[in-house]
Amino acid sequence: MTIRIYVPKDACAIACGADEVVEAIQAAALAARQPVEIIRNGSRGMLWLEPLVEVVTAEGRIGYGPVGADDVASLFAAGFLDGGAHELRIGKPEEHPFMARQTRLTFARCGIIDPASYADYRAHGGYKGLERALTLGPAGIIEEVKKSGLRGRGGAGFPTAIKWKTVADAQADRKYIVCNADEGDSGTFADRMIMEGDPFELIEGMTIAGIAVGATKGYVYTRSEYPHAIWAMEKAVEVARANGMLGANIGGSPYSFDMEVRMGAGAYVCGEETALLDSLEGKRGTVRAKPPLPAHKGLFQKPTVINNVLSLTAVPHILADGGEFYANFGMGRSRGTMPIQIAGNVKFGGLFETAFGITLGELVNEIGGGTATGKPVKAAQVGGPLGAYVPTWQFDLPFDYEAFAAKDALIGHGGIVVFDENADMKKMARFAMEFCSVESCGKCTPCRIGSTRGVELMDRIIAGERVEANLATLTDLCQTMKLGSLCALGGFTPYPVLSAMNHFPEEFGAPRRLEAAE
Ligand SMILES: Cc1cc2nc3c(=O)[nH]c(=O)nc-3n(C[C@H](O)[C@H](O)[C@H](O)COP(=O)(O)O)c2cc1C
Ligand code: SF4
Repeated sequence: MTIRIYVPKDACAIACGADEVVEAIQAAALAARQPVEIIRNGSRGMLWLEPLVEVVTAEGRIGYGPVGADDVASLFAAGFLDGGAHELRIGKPEEHPFMARQTRLTFARCGIIDPASYADYRAHGGYKGLERALTLGPAGIIEEVKKSGLRGRGGAGFPTAIKWKTVADAQADRKYIVCNADEGDSGTFADRMIMEGDPFELIEGMTIAGIAVGATKGYVYTRSEYPHAIWAMEKAVEVARANGMLGANIGGSPYSFDMEVRMGAGAYVCGEETALLDSLEGKRGTVRAKPPLPAHKGLFQKPTVINNVLSLTAVPHILADGGEFYANFGMGRSRGTMPIQIAGNVKFGGLFETAFGITLGELVNEIGGGTATGKPVKAAQVGGPLGAYVPTWQFDLPFDYEAFAAKDALIGHGGIVVFDENADMKKMARFAMEFCSVESCGKCTPCRIGSTRGVELMDRIIAGERVEANLATLTDLCQTMKLGSLCALGGFTPYPVLSAMNHFPEEFGAPRRLEAAE
């Protein structure tokens, strides 16, 4: 009897040797005259266990990880094809505490299905959202998304239904759906994981968006560092088209929608929606002044919905289960679930999807298991390179847009990068300024010139030159960048800088502030 084995084709698993593991399993199975079928799934998101190999047994899928090619002989000897005992055996992946604590909606299928199989997608609830969308029509879809309370997962947290309604109401001969899959934030990988592990979900989400606003063409804009995601998306687009789920008259309906995957040349600022549009049009990625909003004049000056991968992949569930069901999760104005990415100096890094409201401390210390080095946690940078460094005494912060904003912090795309006590906060503050100076698109002065002056000031502070005066100038400069920058790259760089200065003033040679002593 042929035994089915799952070995992830996720970029993280491949980087950890998944392809070599596949070769070793095939060779061992051949030698043992045991027919096996290897399915290349996405990742479950327990990244410290990658490559996580799963064998289909009478009991269900049994996981072993992290498996190296060198482990395969001992796994065969231990009878892993029947789920045999081995030091790498983790049991059923879905029962692992890291998985059992999650509420998986967007990532429900990721790691479970064969991402290239249309039949597998359908068998696991795929296209149920689109089917319902077709019965509701454009206005009904937008109403359902409104009920869900969905806010953009790319960073700004803007209500998705309002954006869609604006594009739906715009009059034009052509409209577009652009998926922002640039995913430039440090410590983030959710967009990549879903594109590699469940690409049809993104196709379904974009198709629903297209029907809702009257757009017939979509683009996924992603980065050259994501070759596996590009491959998986392009393959899925082809398969969806062959099955009548892209192109003219989707699923036999009167609606048409088709899409392409495009790769950027690599710049953090190309994740900013208007720079992304310039890049997609073949120009250098430079931020456009707003208005006009992309919803009015976006790609090729046509009304355009730009949404993050996670916003669009939440939509099929919202349509399938209803907006109210989705809105039942979460706290305050942060509704639904957030796929949180735990990274940096942490023991159990990975993708953790849960309802808004979980605290940062639970995520870092309980779920992430504290630092990988075993040293005390010092801070976590949340929300990418423009996010604040949150110190441990603020770890009771719930994951909620408003709660984070009240502390001058941001959730952004849900990335958490953990630092232990050895982190040098002066260097981290300098890095934030340097990052801005390197990545600035150069359009506005506070960011282009300010970030360079900021690096110079940081260098003087680090060298101990006129520390108090230079700190005052740096604070002043941060204020100018916050208020005077055209986009959030220059406008938010002060947040990591000021958070490092305010929470760890003694490291900058300044007296500890009251706030930091709380
Ligand atoms: C410098 C900069 C980089 C950004 N990078 C990304 C990105 O990589 N992915 C993303 O979805 N949004 C990014 N954004 C936010 C986008 O401009 C935009 O708000 C988002 O794509 C809208 O989609 P949403 O409403 O679904 O979040 C970035 C913004 C700035 C200012
Ligand atoms: S803030 Fe920076 S990245 Fe944004 S428009 Fe100005 S120069 Fe460009």
